[in-house]
Amino acid sequence: MNTDHITALITGANTGLGFEMAKALADQNVHVVLAGRNREKVEGAIERIKRTSPDASLEVGVLDLTSLASVDAFAQNFVAQHKELHILINNAGVMVPPPSLTKEQFEIQFGVNFVAHFALTGHLFPLLNATQGARVVTMSSIAHRGASIDFDNLGLEKPYDPWREYGQSKLADLMFALEFDRRLRAHGSDMLSLGAHPGVSRTELTRNLNDIPPGIEMMAPAQGAAPALVAATSFDVEGGQYWGPDGPEERSGEPGLAVIDPAARDEQQAAKLWDWAQEATGLRFPV
Ligand SMILES: NC(=O)c1ccc[n+]([C@@H]2O[C@H](COP(=O)([O-])OP(=O)(O)OC[C@H]3O[C@@H](n4cnc5c(N)ncnc54)[C@H](OP(=O)(O)O)[C@@H]3O)[C@@H](O)[C@H]2O)c1
Repeated sequence: MNTDHITALITGANTGLGFEMAKALADQNVHVVLAGRNREKVEGAIERIKRTSPDASLEVGVLDLTSLASVDAFAQNFVAQHKELHILINNAGVMVPPPSLTKEQFEIQFGVNFVAHFALTGHLFPLLNATQGARVVTMSSIAHRGASIDFDNLGLEKPYDPWREYGQSKLADLMFALEFDRRLRAHGSDMLSLGAHPGVSRTELTRNLNDIPPGIEMMAPAQGAAPALVAATSFDVEGGQYWGPDGPEERSGEPGLAVIDPAARDEQQAAKLWDWAQEATGLRFPV
């Protein structure tokens, strides 16, 4: 992709993988909107990038993914301010927090990691669609493997199992990425939707863990960001692909095509999830 005159929006860009993606894209002359829930943290991230890349074209975005009203307000403002959106990276995420619900009563991991990003993509769909060759990349995880979507437990109806709920949210993310691409193809769109994962990368995602078991090797966040960057910018990718590190168990390595669990390939379940999300958010796309 020729990255001049390109606009990218990255959620959760104030730290971790999103920060590295923002920095890497800005270094390719992409105009990057860094979105996070805390304005000061996002401004701090912009300052850190500007220290080494003073000419970087960066913009603050504030959205709280625990609230669909916040996502809506952010998107309305974004659409009013921007004529094009070439790259959307649905990156922000939470992992195994204490049990809680989003404003709309979704289990927080499912709500933040999946529902809010579905809504953000839906609100921005007209802008993405009006941009030639736009791409949407959604972050999943090795944790999607072995997970399932329990439609009777999307709002803490059952006793909280933090890792099961995290896996469910990351499976939903990957099902979303793949189902979105199928729907784009059916509409004859030139937009691509891809999934990506970072293996195991050293970020603040572990903030809810008391301790990290010794011996766990973690990649530098810049390396963990690489598969999503390939998905977002390379000419050698196709919609519906899933990119991750190519090393042992996909925990580390160079970007390559990643293993998609059969559950994420279940088109019937993906269509059911899509219908559920449309109902939950009131957003219908692609149209
Ligand atoms: N690191 C890994 O090994 C790994 C492995 C598999 C998948 N992933 C996925 O990669 C993505 C990025 O994670 P990371 O490792 O970079 O974690 P991180 O360092 O904890 O960054 C997460 C980002 O998401 C933001 N965020 C969380 N809740 C939010 C909310 N309600 N509204 C808006 N922003 C919110 C955080 O903002 P604050 O700083 O304000 O909290 C932060 O910017 C996630 O989707 C994660 O599931 C990571």
